[in-house]
This record gives sequence, structure tokens and C-alpha cells, in this order.
Amino acid sequence: MNNPAIGEFIDKVKRGADITQVIGNYVQLRKKGNRYWGCCPFHSEKTPSFSVVPEDGGFFYCFGCHVGGDVFKFISLIENVSYFEAVKIEAEKLDIPLPKRNRTPAEIARDEQRERLYRVNELAKTFFHNCLTVTKMGQAGIKYLKGRGLAANAVEEFSLGFSPAAWDKLAKAFIKRGIDEEALITAGLCVRREKGGVYDRFRGRVMIPIDDERGRTVGFGGRILDNGEPKYLNTAETPIFNKRRLLFGLYNAKSHIRREGYVIVVEGYMDAVSLFEAGVKNVVATLGTAFTAEHIKLITRYTSKVYFCFDSDEAGQRATMRTMSVIRNSPIRAKVITVTDGKDPDEFIRKNGRDGFFKLIENATGIFEHALRYILNHAVYNTLEGKLTVLKEAAPILAAMADSTERREQIRLLGGRLMIDEDSITAEVRRHLGGAWRRYPEEEQRTKPQQQDSVSLRAERIILQSLMRDKTLADHVNAMLPEGLPGAAGRELFANLCADGEEGQELSEEAKILYSRIMNEPVPEDAAQAYTDAVNLLRKNYLEGLCNEHIKKAGEYYEAKDMAKYREELAQVKKINAEIKELA
Ligand code: CTP
Ligand code: MN
Repeated sequence: MNNPAIGEFIDKVKRGADITQVIGNYVQLRKKGNRYWGCCPFHSEKTPSFSVVPEDGGFFYCFGCHVGGDVFKFISLIENVSYFEAVKIEAEKLDIPLPKRNRTPAEIARDEQRERLYRVNELAKTFFHNCLTVTKMGQAGIKYLKGRGLAANAVEEFSLGFSPAAWDKLAKAFIKRGIDEEALITAGLCVRREKGGVYDRFRGRVMIPIDDERGRTVGFGGRILDNGEPKYLNTAETPIFNKRRLLFGLYNAKSHIRREGYVIVVEGYMDAVSLFEAGVKNVVATLGTAFTAEHIKLITRYTSKVYFCFDSDEAGQRATMRTMSVIRNSPIRAKVITVTDGKDPDEFIRKNGRDGFFKLIENATGIFEHALRYILNHAVYNTLEGKLTVLKEAAPILAAMADSTERREQIRLLGGRLMIDEDSITAEVRRHLGGAWRRYPEEEQRTKPQQQDSVSLRAERIILQSLMRDKTLADHVNAMLPEGLPGAAGRELFANLCADGEEGQELSEEAKILYSRIMNEPVPEDAAQAYTDAVNLLRKNYLEGLCNEHIKKAGEYYEAKDMAKYREELAQVKKINAEIKELA
């Protein structure tokens, strides 16, 4: 981190970030005095010991599990990303550009290509919009949209357009303006003719521009006016258009998502347009693809609460079930809105209005509960075999429920429906807790430190192995790790190796086992690098512990209103964090 621009960038983002709001997306916070309190998301608890102090750049600290840090530390822990990635996520939300660094020629070329694509798409959006709103060619489009009951307002708000029902209106207009054929093809707006030249890919369709989350138009969906096929023609993949990473309407919706605290995800462009027009503005649509892990990343920048509202048909139901497997290991809390009138949200809100839709929102079910109902509705379980099939399908879903009260309640209901005793269901659910499904929070607590330990113990062995080859490393290890190696046996072995020459003490049984294990472990390919990595990893752990101590002290001084000492502690935290970043 030797680029001063990066430091300034991080400070700037931090000043812009609202820590209580960011954390409030994950934790229910309540104000008490100058602090906010909630239940810690990093360990399971029933009474709040997790605190957030918004002043002085802001920091959080949990008095239960002693985890703490600034807003970026929080994001990095909860989203499982690096500290700097966390900074970038916030920067994007706040529209703060990344500091420029020297780009390689390949990067420059790539960026230029992307810039060109953004420009061409922007021009195309204007071209289609003008066709619809001011030219005669667009009248068929206007008639279609009117027929669907769409207000002129929506046409403006979503910059809807029309692609002329001819072969080269766009191509000709753009080439006249100096945009070359290659650019039109790369942008997916034109197709090459066999005999040379190009023709328009979108013809006679209502054009729906698709923007990325920063409001740049990256592609289009084109709706046919009659019952022809395909109903929608979309931009094919380009360097800036990837359906799995885009959510239609996000740019328009994002401020509303923040304000409402949740997002509604629908399947179709027109569903999103309709809901938005009717005043339900925190809505986005997938682009005819499944809901992906990339979508989750996009959304969690604004909220972790998602309401899925897919079509009411069987396909929509199945889509909801597929979605479940994507969100099960994410921080997303999902509910399902069931459309009770009409085939999709668009039809529903046309008939029932905004208030009708709000009733549906109120009646939304948790996604896992929804999935259980789906399974029960699609199964015959009057035989033992049928019951077991249902149980097999339901168990992983029950295991995925994060809230144990909800899980118990669902187990009780399922037991009633299947007429199986609850203990058998619970036993089956437990079998799934170790798998890919989310564990019981209590069990997560127990397994996590252990996994972490095995990483640091591996580092410990690499260090000891290096030390056996080169005793002079001992000083370095001592300097870097004031608290010594993580394991008792490791510390013993370390002391023994350092005390070389003197009357060697008898090693304990554990240290002997460790010794022979190290002797039998192969020397890593790049031993010097492996050693450095191992020391850095343990140093990072040590610094993180130290940092938490200072944060804890800072919190105490803050309570005691000793602002001078409190600032001193924060300065320490900052210094340590800088070193941690250096190591990362
Ligand atoms: N879709 C697509 N290609 C198709 C059909 C659908 O890309 N041939 C995508 C579009 O993104 C569409 C979404 O899947 O918005 C949902 O399809 P559907 O429910 O058929 O779309 P609606 O928006 O309901 O279409 P409309 O109301 O215009 O009939
Ligand atoms: Mn529809």
C-alpha cells in the first residue's frame, strides 16, 4: 500500500460511508446513548453485545466475541471479501472513482474498447428512443405500448424506444456519423452480411435499454409486437453485457431499495417497468436467466433483504426453487411473493394496483417455508415411501434455515403433515448440517475456530521446518511474532531448536509427534516464499488480536468520555490496520 492516492481514496470512502446504515443492512440496530446495539452477526447470541459507534470514522465492536474494526472490516468479514474489496464496494455505492494507477497496454486497449461500446450503446438508445417518440416509424411501437396500458411516463423513465422495421436504418445512420461496422457488430447492434456490409439486428421491436448499476447503457431487450418468435431478442454477450451480472432497472431502483430496505426481484422487463410505474420502485428484473451469485453480490451492496416475485405458472415456481440453492449460503434473507391474480406481477398490478401489490408483499413467505410447501404440494405422501421421499427433499431445506426458531416450527408442521415424529425429522436435518448447506449457527461457532487453527498450525509447521534448516531465522520469528507460535507443542519445539547445543531438555509427547510430522512433510517448492507467507499469516493473526484489544479499549475510553485516550487508541488501531493491509 505504498501509493498515497490509495490511502486518500480509502479515507474519502470512509468519510462518505455511513457505518450504521451499512451494518444496519445486516443487523437490527437500536440506539442507546451514543452507540447502536444489536445481536452480533459473527457469533450466535440472544442479547445484544454488538455495538456500533458512528463518530470518528465509525467502528464496531462485539463485547461477546471481541471482533471489531471499521466499516470496511465489517464488510470484509460479513461478505468474505478482502479489506480493499470492501473499500471498493462502498466506493461504488458512493460513486467515488478508484484512483488511477498505471495501466498496462493491454488494459488500456481493453478499457478503450469498453468506452467505445458504452458510447455506441448510448447513441443507439437515443436513436431508438427518437424513432419511437418523434418519427413515423415508431407509431407501431407507440400503439403497442398504449395497448399494454403503459403511460408515456414509463417511456421516458426507462428511455424505451423502437427499432425501425427495416434492414439498415440504424446501420446507415451510424456509419454516416463515423461509427465503423466493426464497432456496430461488437456492440451486437448489427450483423455482417455474407456479401459484405452489415444489417440491423433489431428490427420492428420495442427497445428496452438495459443499464448497468452505474446507469451506463450496455445492451437492449427487444420485444416483438405480435406473437412472433422470439418474443424477446436480447443483445448477445459483449465485453460489457453479461446477463448473469446485470439486473434490469437497478440504476433506477437503487435509491428506492436503500430507502425501503429491501428489493423485489421479478422475472420480466415489463414486470419491472409496470411495478415501477405503479409506484413500487424498489424493483429489478433478471434478464431471462436464473438468479445468480453475481446478482447477489450486486444486490448486497444495497440490501440483504430480497423478495422474489416470479410468474405464477409452474416455470416461475421452479425458478423460485432454483433460486433457493443460490441464496442458501449467502447473507441474503429471502421471501417469496405469490401472485394470486394474473400470470405475472405486471398483470397483477394492472388489475389490483399498488395497494393490492402491497397486500401481496405483506403475505410473502420465507423462501424456505415456501419451498417446503412446494414440495408438499408436489408429492404424494400417504405411503411410507412417499413420506421418506418428502423427508429427504425437505431436510436440506430445513437445515438451511438460519433461524432455529423458524426451523423448529417448520419441523413441527412437517411432522404433522407427514405424521412422522419430530425427532426423526430433526435427526435427518442434522445429517445435512455438515454439508454444503448452512450449519446451525451454534455449530458454526464451534467449527470455525478449528478450521482457522488448522491453517495457522500448518503455518507453524512450515516455520519450524525452515528453522530446522536455518537456525538464524529464530530472531526474525521472535521479532515478527511477539506471542510466539500458535500451538503449545510448536512453542516447545521452537524453544528446543533455539536452545541448540545446550543440554537438551526431554521433549513432551506432543512435541515429539509434531517433530516427526514435520520431518515427514515434504519441503515446499519455494521454501523461502512459503516461510515468508507462513510468518506473515501468523503475524496478521497476531495483529488482528492486538487491534481488537485497542478497539475494545477505545470503546471503554469512549464510554468514560476520555476523548484524548480514545483517540490515542484509535490511532493505534489505524497504525495496526495499515500493517495488516500491508501483509494482506
Ligand atoms: N426472455 C427472453 N427471451 C425470450 C423470452 C423471455 O430473453 N424469448 C426473458 C426476458 O428478459 C423477459 C423474461 O425472460 O422479460 C421473462 O419472460 P416473460 O415472462 O415471457 O416476459 P414478460 O416480461 O412477461 O413478457 P411480456 O409481458 O412482454 O409478454
Ligand atoms: Mn408479462
